Formats: sequence, structure tokens, C-alpha cells
Amino acid sequence: MERLDKIVSNQTGYSRKEVKELVRNKRIMVNDVVVSKSEIKVDPINDLISLDGENINVKKKVYLMLNKPKGYVSATEDKELPTVLELVPIEYSHRDLFPAGRLDRDTTGLMLITDDGEFAHNILSPKKHVKKTYNVTIDIPMTEEMVSGFKDGVNLIDGECKSAGLEITGQYTGVVTLVEGRYHQIKRMFGCFGAKVVELERIGMGNFFLPSDLELGECREFTEEELKRVKE
Ligand code: URA
Repeated sequence: MERLDKIVSNQTGYSRKEVKELVRNKRIMVNDVVVSKSEIKVDPINDLISLDGENINVKKKVYLMLNKPKGYVSATEDKELPTVLELVPIEYSHRDLFPAGRLDRDTTGLMLITDDGEFAHNILSPKKHVKKTYNVTIDIPMTEEMVSGFKDGVNLIDGECKSAGLEITGQYTGVVTLVEGRYHQIKRMFGCFGAKVVELERIGMGNFFLPSDLELGECREFTEEELKRVKE
């Protein structure tokens, strides 16, 4: 349960003082009943909150896309380093958001940040086969041996990787597709071929690809249609 004035303020941009005034003017209803106190506690998700008859309910779940810059850790908190949550706009600060999956500190690109644990589990579980696509640059020329090795399943110390795609796009560059997300997976996979990853950018999850107008460090909500493509 949360204070009504806090919720209305978060949802509309009115200050708490202004919300008090709205209540005094009988402009706010909860479950179709005019409220008389702005500090009452309500359930922000299941109670119906309206201002001037218009629903201002809190969205049940939030799904944000972030174009992660280097230098940020994929965690909800860190003692020393900035986390990806610091790039999330302030209006989402009352939610229990977390990054769905990890990108290394020096990896850039598409991250999904949400408060929907079930959705996150579904897109991350290798059993669901949601592919993740990465642009990679390595320090030695790409080889066909790497392509077939990735396809057959590279052997890492924590077990054999599922079949992965590698498409060579330049002497040192390629596009990798994975359906799992182990610790430093792409770096370790190339390591098996004596190569070091020098640049790594996630460009896709499922059939959704990083929009070209989403600048590094920018964060916005997915549309429903975009979110559907993530699961494909
Ligand atoms: N593989 C890696 O090695 N690092 C990432 O950040 C993502 C995949």
C-alpha cells in the first residue's frame, strides 16, 4: 500500500501540495468514490485511481529498453560503480526494477529493465530459446573454424555451450547469436580460439533490435508491439 498523494504525484507530475488541492476540490476518486484525504493509503496497482474521471492508474508492470554505455554494471546496486538503474528516468524510481540479464561492464547495447520477474525468466531461460544478438570485434581475423566451432557448441569449463551462430561481417567483426547467457560467454567462446573480444554490443533480443534513434545511455518504455517481438 502507498500514499495516494505520492502515487498521484508520480503519475501526473503534480506536487504533493497540488494533489492536496485536487482532493479538496473533489477531483480525485479511488474505486469510483471521491476521496477526502490525500494521505490515505491505497494499492497502486489494483485500486482504480482517477483524476477528473480519467484513469491514472499505475501500470501493472514496466518494460524499459536501455542502450547501455560502457562503465555501468548490470546490477541493482554496487558499492563502487554506477549501475544501469542510474540511467532509468526518475519517474520509475518507486518501482522494483532490475535488469533482465547481464551485460559486462565494458559491453554496450540493448538491455531490458523491468519489474516483471516472470517475463524476465522467460526471455532468459535457455529452454525458451529467445535469441540474443551481438556485434563483436576481436583482435585476430575471424575464421571459418570459429563459425563451425560455435555451431557445434564450444566447450567451456562450466560445460558445453548450446549451438551459437557466428556470421563473419568483416576481417575482425562478426554477429553472434546465443540462446543462453553465461558469465562472459562470448569472450570465453572466442578465447577458445585464441581471440580476445575488443568490442561487444548487444543489438537484439528475440526479433527486437536496438532502435537506431536510441542513443547510448537513453532509456524508454517498450511499446506492446515491440515487447511481443522480444519474445519471438
Ligand atoms: N558475452 C560476454 O562475454 N559478455 C557480455 O556482456 C555478453 C555476452
